[in-house]
Amino acid sequence: MLINKPPGIRPSEITPESVFRNRRQLLRAAGLGGAGLLLGTGCSAEESEASGALKSLDVVKGSSFSTDEPMTDYEDITSYNNFYEFGLDKSDPARLSGDFKPRPWSVEIAGEAAKTGVFDLDDIIGPHPIEERIYRLRCVEAWSMVVPWNGIPLGDIIKRFEPTSRAKYVAFETVVRPSEMPGQRRGVLDFPYVEGLTMAEAMHPLTLLAVGLYGRELPNQNGAPLRLVVPWKYGFKSIKSIVKISFTETEPPTTWSLSAPREYGFYANVNPEVDHPRWSQAKERAIGGGVFSPKKPTLMFNGYAEQVASLYEGLDLRKNF
Ligand code: MTE
Repeated sequence: MLINKPPGIRPSEITPESVFRNRRQLLRAAGLGGAGLLLGTGCSAEESEASGALKSLDVVKGSSFSTDEPMTDYEDITSYNNFYEFGLDKSDPARLSGDFKPRPWSVEIAGEAAKTGVFDLDDIIGPHPIEERIYRLRCVEAWSMVVPWNGIPLGDIIKRFEPTSRAKYVAFETVVRPSEMPGQRRGVLDFPYVEGLTMAEAMHPLTLLAVGLYGRELPNQNGAPLRLVVPWKYGFKSIKSIVKISFTETEPPTTWSLSAPREYGFYANVNPEVDHPRWSQAKERAIGGGVFSPKKPTLMFNGYAEQVASLYEGLDLRKNF
């Protein structure tokens, strides 16, 4: 998310993105990457190796919300990450999240709802079928991926907790565990990472609470064991490793709008017409497409305008970025 380098991190500790990408290209060229097509499994050879320890999930496929764009390789989705709790570099979450323990896991449900308390994750997701949703993820840094998420529509889960009429927003909070999350020990951001949605956004059928990807539980670097996925918003709204969900009357604070309010707003809808103060949002680079692949134009609401534009009628999207 392009923040200033915090004190205490030497420049040599941060792999420039170009070096990282070139390493991947070299592996590919040497036949060590992206072998999925050869196997014909739809997942890469690295997946079977890297995801070996992750439980496979019983997944209902064929959602009408899924895109038919080609999916990004498992290896790219799980090695090129933003998860500042584990560090700033894109390779840090995969490299440094080995000590993180996503089980047992509980989530606190709080605020304006009839049913609140601390619930075991299995009780929260247990009654629901897990769906496959193939969504585009568009990062505010102008890159994108296509990810086969496995999860449950957030609205289905929310309904069970019976939010009151005062619940206008839903706030989310990530776990704080400095002993397992090296980025938290360095104070890279103000933790816990917090995010929020309006109630209408949270209840929208596209909004997913993901528990897996490519038919297996989420790897730690992608937000195990439970993360949000809001496909029409910049990736930073999709908060990882959630431990608290609160229903609130007023707009909740969000990590990036707290740390750089001129650059990141509460809404953060993908919008090619509103530039980031430091770069254009008109185009994006597909992760895994190779360094020479042309950039693609970014679509309003990340291509989901038909489904979500009505949520923002009458709202000035330049002011409410
Ligand atoms: N959630 C937490 N807790 N911490 C983070 O640093 N990064 C966000 C989002 N969720 C982040 C987070 C950003 S900037 C992006 S682009 C997506 O996670 C990246 O998700 P991915 O690594 O699964 O692609």
